[in-house]
Amino acid sequence: MSHLIAPSMLSADFLNLGRDVEMINNSVADWFHIDVMDGMFVPNISFGFPIMNAISKIAKKPMDVHLMIENPDRYFEEFKKNGADIITVHYEAVRHLHRSVQAIKALGMQAGVVLNPHTSVKNLEDIIADLDVVLLMSVNPGYGGQKFIENTYAKLGAMKDLIIQKNSKALIEVDGGVGTHNIGKLVAAGADVLVAGSAVFGSDDPMKTIEILKKG
Ligand code: DX5
Ligand code: ZN
Repeated sequence: MSHLIAPSMLSADFLNLGRDVEMINNSVADWFHIDVMDGMFVPNISFGFPIMNAISKIAKKPMDVHLMIENPDRYFEEFKKNGADIITVHYEAVRHLHRSVQAIKALGMQAGVVLNPHTSVKNLEDIIADLDVVLLMSVNPGYGGQKFIENTYAKLGAMKDLIIQKNSKALIEVDGGVGTHNIGKLVAAGADVLVAGSAVFGSDDPMKTIEILKKG
């Protein structure tokens, strides 16, 4: 499988959101990456259901919802209603991870777990076989436009080994500081899905940038 590109709507122009969603529809991008922040789990607040719902009305590609919120289980059903296809929850924000993953799947969505830069891949040993996606944060969550953390390459290798060892089908997603300068190395290291916010929306020609990212 060739790698997937998931532009992060956090860096879109909210005054021209419809235009940016259509741009992604018409591009070679694969998923919409939707960053939800609550000002508690992360210092920043992004957006919630009304914005997600508006995006989902015209989005023609799967909505990959990255929940940077405390106790996310409260809202799985609401996210489903507002168009989520994939939900990822933070290992650091959930107490009963197995239950959360099963709850997401029971609602007919794909389930993933996110690891902060300091959280070891080893923590997923007993859940990896149940996951559709594992998301490695390559910056500390909360903001777009941060610098990529180099230790992510080592974590990618360890994650790949664990997935093979446990016979898991999980895709490895990398989020934060991804751009045309490091995409080739990330794909070579085993990344299956690459999130890119500022690299796409901060470029002069976002559609062209997505094309370059897709080529790896
Ligand atoms: C960070 C978010 C990312 C962010 C990535 O907390 O999870 O998805 O939007 O932005 P860039 O690609 O600019 O690092
Ligand atoms: Zn994200």
